[in-house]
Amino acid sequence: MSNGIQPIRGMNDVLPAEIGLWQHLEAALRELVAMYGYEEIRVPVVEHTDLFKRSIGEFTDIVEKEMYTFRDQGGDSLTLRPEATAGIARAAISNGMLRGQKHKLWCIGPMFRHERPQKGRYRQFHQFDVEALGFDGPDVDAELIVMMARLWRRLGLTRVSLQLNSLGTPESRAQYREKLVDYFRGHEAALDADSRRRLGGNPLRILDSKNPEMQAVIAGAPLIVDHLDAVSRAHFEALQASLRAVGIAYTVNPRLVRGLDYYSRTVFEWTTDALGSQDAVCSGGRYDGLIAQLGGEATAAIGFAMGIERVVELLRQAQVVPEGQAPDAYIVAQGERAAAAALAFAERLRDEMPRRRVALGLGGGNFKAQFRRADRSGARFALVLGDSELDRGVVAIKDLRGEANQIECPMAEASARLEAVLKE
Ligand code: HAM
Repeated sequence: MSNGIQPIRGMNDVLPAEIGLWQHLEAALRELVAMYGYEEIRVPVVEHTDLFKRSIGEFTDIVEKEMYTFRDQGGDSLTLRPEATAGIARAAISNGMLRGQKHKLWCIGPMFRHERPQKGRYRQFHQFDVEALGFDGPDVDAELIVMMARLWRRLGLTRVSLQLNSLGTPESRAQYREKLVDYFRGHEAALDADSRRRLGGNPLRILDSKNPEMQAVIAGAPLIVDHLDAVSRAHFEALQASLRAVGIAYTVNPRLVRGLDYYSRTVFEWTTDALGSQDAVCSGGRYDGLIAQLGGEATAAIGFAMGIERVVELLRQAQVVPEGQAPDAYIVAQGERAAAAALAFAERLRDEMPRRRVALGLGGGNFKAQFRRADRSGARFALVLGDSELDRGVVAIKDLRGEANQIECPMAEASARLEAVLKE
């Protein structure tokens, strides 16, 4: 395709051959949110750039270097959403959904970050995102976690584990931040360039630096758990007690700080050892201050997002076989009159068996060519309709996968006969 239009690096096509696992996962997600009573919300893919600056934070990697930002024809600065939380918080404010009300919401869709693409990290990727607005207590934190634990069980994924931390209230976090800055300033010579830059804007992020040379200085840094305010500590302990009560294993990771600024109190991340360096499959936390910060009335909130591509890869590795999309029956019509009758026959079958997949051999061609297409479609049965069958009002049912003998039946009985043989 050297002269043609190239795809954008880090933005993937999902081809029909790969879509099965996506649909398998999406079906499980819809089932999951229904079980827990979450409602779907759909928000735009573009928002005013300021929304992301004010929520995710000016000094985060996402806002500093990863946003797809452009001016529209009216001169407004817009950004392709790098995540869904900010847009959902904005939607709740714009639509007057707060005012003391509670909402349990979810959405699914593409997000955009100009990161360096590698396996598991893309520039357009998809998130399954859940947000609970208006809930203050640790019960909802626990619910979001047990809900995801149920998903892993339902999907048969075992190589995921949960890490938790608490970042405290904005006030206790600010005090901790000062302690951290003091500590790192005392060890400035040991900091790499990235960390020195973060010291001014986002010192907590130094804690999750992956640079091996930074690990010694990070190991000596004060821990946020030692600086939690009493309310956050009680909240965090209550969450852990709930998780223990339902038997969910977790580790408290005092260096889990998350890359977005809006978090307070509970943060968590599900990671896997099956995907190499892009090991976070689902992450989130509380953002009790965000909605007020965006101009809405103060509303406690918590949510998470799961990376669809990463979970699809886990399913692929676990050799999950999704339900196929092959037709149950493929109509092969030969002869002018039979071809003309085939469309109505196919429609009748679809009316009579709405759960079955009926493909009509489009594009004509001789019997041999049509059978080849029927075979390639993966269909279980071919329904053969030639002019002579049409004259007799019958159709032949031919097993394309097994040894069953070809049978002939009246067209009016075709759906009943097909159902019978499909169940065998
Ligand atoms: P996040 O940690 O930035 O959080 O992303 C959540 C998940 O999206 C990650 O755990 C990962 O699975 C997936 N992900 C992120 N970036 C990429 C990428 N470039 N390619 C593939 N997958 C990726 C958030 O986005 C927050 N909005 C989560 C949240 C919701 N917090 C509260 N509510």
